[in-house]
Amino acid sequence: MYLGISRKSVLVTAASKGIGRAIAEEFVSEGAKVAICSRNKEHLLKTSDEIKNKFGVEVLWCVCDLSKRKDIENTINAVNNEFNGIDILVNNCGGPPRGNFLDFEEEDWQSAIDQVFLSAVTATKLVVPNMMEKEWGRIINITSISVKQPVDSLILSNAVRTGLTGLAKSLSNELGKYNITVNNVAPGYTLTNRLYELAVSRAKEMNTSHEEVLSEIAKGIPMNRLAAPEEIAATVVFLASMKASYITGCTIPVDGGYIKGL
Ligand SMILES: NC(=O)c1ccc[n+]([C@@H]2O[C@H](COP(=O)([O-])OP(=O)(O)OC[C@H]3O[C@@H](n4cnc5c(N)ncnc54)[C@H](OP(=O)(O)O)[C@@H]3O)[C@@H](O)[C@H]2O)c1
Repeated sequence: MYLGISRKSVLVTAASKGIGRAIAEEFVSEGAKVAICSRNKEHLLKTSDEIKNKFGVEVLWCVCDLSKRKDIENTINAVNNEFNGIDILVNNCGGPPRGNFLDFEEEDWQSAIDQVFLSAVTATKLVVPNMMEKEWGRIINITSISVKQPVDSLILSNAVRTGLTGLAKSLSNELGKYNITVNNVAPGYTLTNRLYELAVSRAKEMNTSHEEVLSEIAKGIPMNRLAAPEEIAATVVFLASMKASYITGCTIPVDGGYIKGL
């Protein structure tokens, strides 16, 4: 399928590892100009080197803590300067910590809101005017199955990501007439560092191994396995493509059938 994004410029946030990195690689493989950002310079350098070795292409990287507005502004400015605008914005972020309601204080909620919600608000606000001028754009937020079916002991994620889902739907109403689509991709359990760390933490509580925890999770998924990050990435790149020109305001779960609702 011809996706038609080979000359498009893309920023994938929180993309030195895991799902974000897989998304960046998928865009590179489609010939797009790709920028990535995250907090840790060493992670970014390693990732950009590995992408160069694999595809023979440079990605632009920027150190950016998504909970800091100034960092986001600097990143978007740097990408705009290098690529002359951003056609496709993928708002990914680090996941909030695991825990239940009484585990968290107000500052924990604020930090989850900054990282998950306000980071996407800020980045989106900075790229939309240029997309409106060009009358083309794609905004894709990486959320979670937790927006459709809350995940036990992930109360920060369960609560805050639904705000982003509402924002995307509202924005899709505002921006459709400019040929800008806004969608969410909601990953299910995906084999990354984040899932590994969550499994280690749950294993300690249950006095078992993280392998056992992951195997139990897989048993509860109709596809009977965890996702590979590349499977999330393929959906994101499709939504960003010319072929997805009439899909907007949607949340697409990529979860192996995990969500039980219709
Ligand atoms: N894996 C799953 O099963 C799963 C399921 C549903 C939803 N999700 C969500 O999908 C997102 C990505 O998850 P993942 O599994 O790919 O996580 P991951 O493997 O832990 O990777 C997280 C990425 O985010 C970056 N990052 C973390 N905090 C950041 C910050 N404040 N500013 C900028 N970059 C930051 C990290 O790089 P640095 O350390 O260099 O900053 C890294 O590149 C998370 O929000 C997660 O909750 C994951």
